[in-house]
Amino acid sequence: METDILFSPLTIKKHTFPNRLGVAPMTRMSGGADSIPRRDVLDFLVRRAERGAGLVYTEAIVTDYESAQGYPGQARMTSQPQIDTWRRVVESIHGHGAKAIMQMFHCGRMAWPEVNPAHRVIAPSRVAPVQDNPLTGNPYPLPEEMSHFDIDHVIQGFVETARGGVAAGFDGIEIHGAHGYLISQFLSSYSNKRNDEYGGSEEGRFYFAREIIRAVRRVVPEDRLLLFRISNWGVADMEVSLFASQQEWQAMIGLLDQEELDALSVSTYCFSDSAFDSGQTMAQLTRAVTTLPILICGQVHDRATAEAALEGADIVLSGKSILLDPDWVEGVRGGKPLSCYSSEEANVAYTEEPLP
Ligand SMILES: Cc1cc2nc3c(=O)[nH]c(=O)nc-3n(C[C@H](O)[C@H](O)[C@H](O)COP(=O)(O)O)c2cc1C
Repeated sequence: METDILFSPLTIKKHTFPNRLGVAPMTRMSGGADSIPRRDVLDFLVRRAERGAGLVYTEAIVTDYESAQGYPGQARMTSQPQIDTWRRVVESIHGHGAKAIMQMFHCGRMAWPEVNPAHRVIAPSRVAPVQDNPLTGNPYPLPEEMSHFDIDHVIQGFVETARGGVAAGFDGIEIHGAHGYLISQFLSSYSNKRNDEYGGSEEGRFYFAREIIRAVRRVVPEDRLLLFRISNWGVADMEVSLFASQQEWQAMIGLLDQEELDALSVSTYCFSDSAFDSGQTMAQLTRAVTTLPILICGQVHDRATAEAALEGADIVLSGKSILLDPDWVEGVRGGKPLSCYSSEEANVAYTEEPLP
């Protein structure tokens, strides 16, 4: 009998994912002064596990109170009430048989200074995104170039937040190195113009990510998973290819492959697109240079696309589809005709109306 790969388990270390369909990290901007998301936003995550998702990501958790926050109402994981709240969410997700992963993030030059407690905007270099901030309608401010002190401080923010995630019981911790936020800004020569050890060659631009991975790994016990998310696109200046070529992308993946990571999450706009005009998908180019398990995301919306996406990866993440359709996993299982949602439709993520 042919096995249904989408609904077959996958084990990474001691963690068995019951199936290959997960909820992608999604920032909902619902938190108050306590940096804890609204109750219905947390319940939404638990409900996705209850309705069959094998893996649930948190939204991007901000790594400090100084310069990391990029959007209003983001969450943190460094106070006991924050950790206790999330621990109950993790326990409920576990109660439904799914795994829980915390993603952590620093926005870097994508900052919206009004929302950041210290009003600081820092980045590898003094270069702002070209486009305006769509949420404010104003240009992004020119960032300060990070000093070595700033770099160490930011690394400690990732470490502290990872400790919070471990205390809350998450199965895995993900470092957000995608979408043009701080780590991604270091990786890409589009935003990294430094001429010290944190810039220049691929190794130089990777150095900041490497320091974060190594510092975080020290506080993430061996039996928990450490993941890294990477993309070739950023939320601002979206049309820009953050890596110059297939070779450069694969060199970065090769550098990640040398670290003590347990999986790589590759974020694409559309999983089936030809990457760098190679005729291969981003997942295939990644798979060619690493044996790490791969999570893939980008316009997977029905059974056919989920199966196709899984050909180059081990787990498929859904953002918009699982956001808008609580029964998405069952829909995929049954081969139901399901539509591919637009970003505009996904804007309900930011309303105060609880999502089903
Ligand atoms: C409302 C919303 C919030 C998002 N927030 C995050 C985030 O916090 N971290 C992240 O890595 N990606 C974030 N994303 C991107 C998704 O994780 C995913 O990569 C993207 O939506 C593409 O997948 P899809 O086509 O299935 O929606 C967000 C997407 C949406 C729609």
